[in-house]
Amino acid sequence: MAGMMTTRRLLGLAMAAAGVALLIAGTLRGSTPVMLIGMVVLGMLVGGLVVAVLQRAIVVMNLAAATRADVDRALMLIEAHPAQLKRAMAEAEATDRGERQKLRVAVETSISGVQNALGEKLTRMGEAQALQSSIMTVALGQALETLAGRLQALEAGLAGLEAHLAGLDARVEQASDSLREAGSVQDQLRRLMLEGNSLAVRAYRDIHAALDAHAETLGTATTGIDAHFVGQRAGQEALAERFDVQAEAAEQVLRRLGDDLRDGLARQAAADVASRNRATEGVERVVALIESLRKGYEADKQALKAFTHNEKKLRSLSRVPLQWLKTETVREVEALMQLRELLGTEGPTPLLGGWAMDPEAMLSLVELVLERKPRCIVELGSGTSSLWLAMALKKNGTGRLVSYDHLGEYAESTRKALEAHGVGAFAQVRAAPLVDVAIGEETYAWYSLPDAPGEGEIDLLIVDGPPGGTGPMARFPAIPRLFDQLREDAIVVVDDASRPDEKTMLDRWEAAFPALRRGHALGTRTATLSVSRSVRTDGAGERPAPEGASVDSQRSKAPVHRAK
Ligand SMILES: C[S@@+](CC[C@H](N)C(=O)[O-])C[C@H]1O[C@@H](n2cnc3c(N)ncnc32)[C@H](O)[C@@H]1O
Repeated sequence: MAGMMTTRRLLGLAMAAAGVALLIAGTLRGSTPVMLIGMVVLGMLVGGLVVAVLQRAIVVMNLAAATRADVDRALMLIEAHPAQLKRAMAEAEATDRGERQKLRVAVETSISGVQNALGEKLTRMGEAQALQSSIMTVALGQALETLAGRLQALEAGLAGLEAHLAGLDARVEQASDSLREAGSVQDQLRRLMLEGNSLAVRAYRDIHAALDAHAETLGTATTGIDAHFVGQRAGQEALAERFDVQAEAAEQVLRRLGDDLRDGLARQAAADVASRNRATEGVERVVALIESLRKGYEADKQALKAFTHNEKKLRSLSRVPLQWLKTETVREVEALMQLRELLGTEGPTPLLGGWAMDPEAMLSLVELVLERKPRCIVELGSGTSSLWLAMALKKNGTGRLVSYDHLGEYAESTRKALEAHGVGAFAQVRAAPLVDVAIGEETYAWYSLPDAPGEGEIDLLIVDGPPGGTGPMARFPAIPRLFDQLREDAIVVVDDASRPDEKTMLDRWEAAFPALRRGHALGTRTATLSVSRSVRTDGAGERPAPEGASVDSQRSKAPVHRAK
């Protein structure tokens, strides 16, 4: 209830404030509709108040009526109780009469008995009277209390109403004051606007006059500038004419100079190419010599046997007639030139010869690859040959090379060379540390061969590793280990075939594997073998490998690093 009262008051206040605000705004703007809306809002507020007063009056009247009904009910109650009283008294009298009858029957029984009966009668009469008076008192008290409460509430309501009306009067007064103030502010504003208007008109006239004066000055200045521009344009045209003449002369001089320069450069370039080719050849051979000496020195330090072997080789070389050496050199140069032309090679390539296959053998090998178009080449001992083989496969547009190397650093440098020449997709260089490989009763330090190709997959096997310095008959396990992986028409190429170990190795292979047949040599130190599985010596197929040629076991041990 209290909450509703507060809401009503707030609503009334809001309406009063809105009405007053609208009146002020309407007056300030001179808007009759806004003022009318304000007045309507205030009128609605006053109407609301009147309705509220009327509601309160109705409530008071209802309360009075209810009070009157309560009083009537109390009087009826009082009238009803005397009847009960009369009945009680009648009953008492009847009882009394009975008692008297009994008393009369027993006249002489006892005076005290009569007295007690009389006392009882008196007590009952007293109780009946007390009941009557208490009922009346309670009913009347309740009715009076209710009446007093309702009168109090009525008075409080009336007091609140008066206070509201007083507040409303005060606010109406305030609103009238505000309206009066708003009117005076509006008057002041109107005056100020009028003054501002006349000031603006005066300023506009002044600016206009100033602009006219400025335009006149500008006109005079523009005429001067135009004249200046005419003079400048004439000067520029004269300058442009002079520039054209000079530019033409300069162009002729430059053209002559360019022709002279081009002729000079062409002559110089021809001379440069010839001398660069000579120099490159010389440098290549010197670098090859230095490289092989350095590697030979390192290898010699690690393996005395290899050192002795190289020494013998050098001695035998020194006995070769000079004329033969000259012929050999010319052949190698020619082979290298043909190799480059055949594969359309551009840019420098790693050196051939020395530790790598010689150019003549390389040329023959590349020709073999171009002719037979092998799908799978396996190379034991990677290096420059891997690059030329991959270039040949690229030219074929098919086939892949898997090259194994026991030294990670050389495997890596070969990989880089392949990538640098854009043939990495045709060749894979795998690091294959040397492990103990038992063939018959002998053990060799030979490749671990990770992921070797499957049976009958190899079309071309190139045996150019491990280097001789890694142990006697270092390359012997190649065929015993990989014979089954060779295709039935595969080719096996063996480099360094003129060395004593390799000669023995080839003899032993041929003896153990009759399907292998010696083919044409590629150059002076490279042998070939071809596989022909149709060869049958026992009428049932290939002759079983003799003792010492079968792979018994392959035991891993720490990688062996020994030079060629
Ligand atoms: C006879 S070479 C093999 C070379 C390769 N088949 C070729 O003809 O270019 C044997 C070993 O020499 C090592 N080697 C590779 N590149 C080398 C280089 N630039 N200098 C010295 N040794 C190298 C490798 O460890 C390789 O297994």
